[in-house]
Amino acid sequence: MSGRIPQHFIDELISRTDIAEVIGSRVRLQKAGREFKACCPFHEEKTPSFTVSPTKQFYHCFGCGMHGTALGFVMEFEGLGFIEAVEDLAGQIGMEIPREGGETRVRPRAESYATLGEAAAFYAQNLKKSTVAVDYLKDRGLSGDTVREFGIGYAPDRWDGLVCSVGAEAAARRHLLDTGMIKPRQGGDGCYDMFRDRVMFPIRDTRGRVIAFGGRILGDGEPKYLNSPESPLFHKGRELYGLHEARQALRDISTLLVVEGYMDVVGLAQHGIRNAVATLGTACTEAHLDRLFRISENVVFCFDGDRAGRKAAWRAMENSLTSMREGRRIDFLFLPDGQDPDSLVRAEGAERFRERMAEALPLSEYLIRQLSDQTDLDNVDGRARFVELARPLIDRLPDGVYREMLIDRIGQAVRMDAPRLRSLLGGAKRVAPKPLRQQRHRISTGRGNLVRQAITLLLHYPQIAEQVEVPTGLLDVDQPGIDVLTRLLKELQQSPGLTTAAVLERWREDTVGRHLATLAASDLLVEEDGALEEVRNSLLHLVARDSSRRRADELLTKAHQKGLSSDEKHELQGLLRDRGGSTGAADGERAL
Ligand code: UTP
Ligand code: MN
Repeated sequence: MSGRIPQHFIDELISRTDIAEVIGSRVRLQKAGREFKACCPFHEEKTPSFTVSPTKQFYHCFGCGMHGTALGFVMEFEGLGFIEAVEDLAGQIGMEIPREGGETRVRPRAESYATLGEAAAFYAQNLKKSTVAVDYLKDRGLSGDTVREFGIGYAPDRWDGLVCSVGAEAAARRHLLDTGMIKPRQGGDGCYDMFRDRVMFPIRDTRGRVIAFGGRILGDGEPKYLNSPESPLFHKGRELYGLHEARQALRDISTLLVVEGYMDVVGLAQHGIRNAVATLGTACTEAHLDRLFRISENVVFCFDGDRAGRKAAWRAMENSLTSMREGRRIDFLFLPDGQDPDSLVRAEGAERFRERMAEALPLSEYLIRQLSDQTDLDNVDGRARFVELARPLIDRLPDGVYREMLIDRIGQAVRMDAPRLRSLLGGAKRVAPKPLRQQRHRISTGRGNLVRQAITLLLHYPQIAEQVEVPTGLLDVDQPGIDVLTRLLKELQQSPGLTTAAVLERWREDTVGRHLATLAASDLLVEEDGALEEVRNSLLHLVARDSSRRRADELLTKAHQKGLSSDEKHELQGLLRDRGGSTGAADGERAL
């Protein structure tokens, strides 16, 4: 997909989306007056401080400071980029995304979800009819409850099972094709089933909708697992098998366990270990980590003890570094050779498995051990090589306490004092790390600044802009933020009916956007009735103050150059008194 998404589309999308619905489908909301409340999905809390305002179309957590629009919420909660989040929301309400320079159509997705849900039901039905498949699952130690909870089913040994049932209607068939469940027959007409004679694992998104399947062969054979291809609903590099089920089973997920396979997740759940998720046949990507850390600060990666497992661990470590910072923890759990979590939990039981998790290696220890194994720390050359191997890894870590502590730890390993090592490694990086959530709302929202006050009121009550007359000279007022204020007024007056959220979306790509969101989230003491008056007064005041400042400067210059008449002196005194403690005052006193 190429081409920018036009602004009018984003406006329209925001105005047609209901934030309470978007958030409510992912988080349990309770009505509280005109707003909704919930326990914040972005930090751990027992009492709700997360609020959703349908009027502003804006959410805000008073606990952790997170805030934003429906679009921003979907990005944060689902770990999506801007475009993907737009696609998600647009798909929900069946809007087609026009692109500047080239039209690309996105089919409404709601129906595809429904069709895949029907496919899952079809497979579940067929499991009941197949004793072979049921026996296979029993043999693997799964109870009926576990099978139902994960929606596990069976694809019958036919070429047209799905095609003839779920795919009977043309529209549903279209969706089955789009999602790779069926394929067109070569050289003939009609379609055939992609999954045949396999145990079917539905892959669900965080909202529980089926987005893809993994199908395991019964017994031996190749390929062991067949997976749905990438589709508009399914992006392998982002999805985690079992995440929905883990969230359903656990209220608080304090640690997430990342394993390799479908059966590992299901087998662990069978033994009461409910916090396991699996990447889908891919390495753990940064997008995965983003999601994992949004749910829990502690992640344990689980690997087989064989060579492939060790290689996968190293890659996972490299991919994790950019996400590491204080408060977060990643551990590495290596299983005995030849075992995977499913076989091990069956052999040893849940308790022993939990012990193993508790004994897992912290990322820093894992990294140092790996590098020590590759170098000889007993001689200078080996230690130098250690530092060289560590350098690119350290470079990936964001600045912060975690990075500093790891450098200290490496210093111990190579017997070098930390300051010297730091200077060898190039000291702190120049690029700023991703801002921490908590830092996002550190911008002062204090009162007393007229520009900020007017902007804040306009963001809270965008509809008043229509009745505000922009005083002449406002644009020339010499104050930081005046350009933002005038642009905001102009936008609101040109497009009446914009909500707070729609305004914020227009500024998303602007660095100012973040500040505006903070102001929109701030507490207001002024009601809508008073807001219009306040904004009018603020604007008039700004212009008046600016013109008296100019006049004072003019008189001061004249005083220095050729002196003032007594009237002018009076006038200047008055102006400076009004100006109060500003810097010009002392200057003025001297001039008089
Ligand atoms: P494994 O080969 O370790 O299988 O693949 P497993 O999870 O232990 O499965 P069981 O216990 O034999 O049933 C791990 C993961 O790699 C992907 C799947 O996601 C699988 O769960 N995989 C593996 C495939 O996609 N295709 C394959 O052919 C094999
Ligand atoms: Mn296995």
